[in-house]
Amino acid sequence: MTTRFVISGTDTGVGKTIFSAALTSALGSYYWKPVQSGLDEETDTQIVRRLGRVPSERILPEAYRLATPVSPHLSARIDGTSIVTETLDPPSVNGPLVIEGAGGLMVPLSEQLLFADAFAQWKIPVILCARTTLGTINHTLLSIEALRNRAIPIFGIAFIGEMNLETQRIIVQLSGVRSLGRLPILPNLTAAALRAAFHENFDLETFADARS
Ligand SMILES: Nc1ncnc2c1ncn2[C@@H]1O[C@H](COP(=O)(O)OP(=O)(O)OP(=O)(O)O)[C@@H](O)[C@H]1O
Ligand SMILES: [Mg+2]
Repeated sequence: MTTRFVISGTDTGVGKTIFSAALTSALGSYYWKPVQSGLDEETDTQIVRRLGRVPSERILPEAYRLATPVSPHLSARIDGTSIVTETLDPPSVNGPLVIEGAGGLMVPLSEQLLFADAFAQWKIPVILCARTTLGTINHTLLSIEALRNRAIPIFGIAFIGEMNLETQRIIVQLSGVRSLGRLPILPNLTAAALRAAFHENFDLETFADARS
């Protein structure tokens, strides 16, 4: 039994990588981004390494490194490859593991496969990263419904953004999924500031009881 998390989100750009960096650092875990689309900018793996101050031995290589920053199914096609489930089995490591998806749950990996299908095979608890801004109630409840439809275990919601208590409350109330905390927007996004914000806003104990 190991502590493993899948970090998914309601959308692309919600802050999964920033949250993953904070969680990887706090847990002293391994980090794995199975599918990276886009290699020209700093990759998610590089961001986690930098902002989580994660030593290189705890960074696992991506299963797919695709050049173009578009949906993985298309990015793979452009690179003349295709994503298959067999290569997406989470690596076994000697310690906790944080796995970051790409975009949201319904992102296609191929003509047949969604990211959510891979998560359903893995049965690893998902942390759903959600914005606090307008529109998030709809996106978050839809994502939770999609997770439940596939019997994917849900560990909790990590909110990201400015405080919006009513939004957070109604999402928890209507979904029955707990809030793990809220990562504020950090004007100065450094490793030290991220670490401090995570410890201020999340209880590390909560993450200790995830076993899969
Ligand atoms: N807590 C935060 N404080 C400050 N800026 C943030 C925070 N979270 C996210 N951002 C900003 O939003 C951008 C997108 O966040 P991030 O890369 O984590 O999104 P993502 O959900 O991982 O996207 P993708 O689907 O591409 O993997 C970051 O580059 C950063 O500029
Ligand atoms: Mg990311």
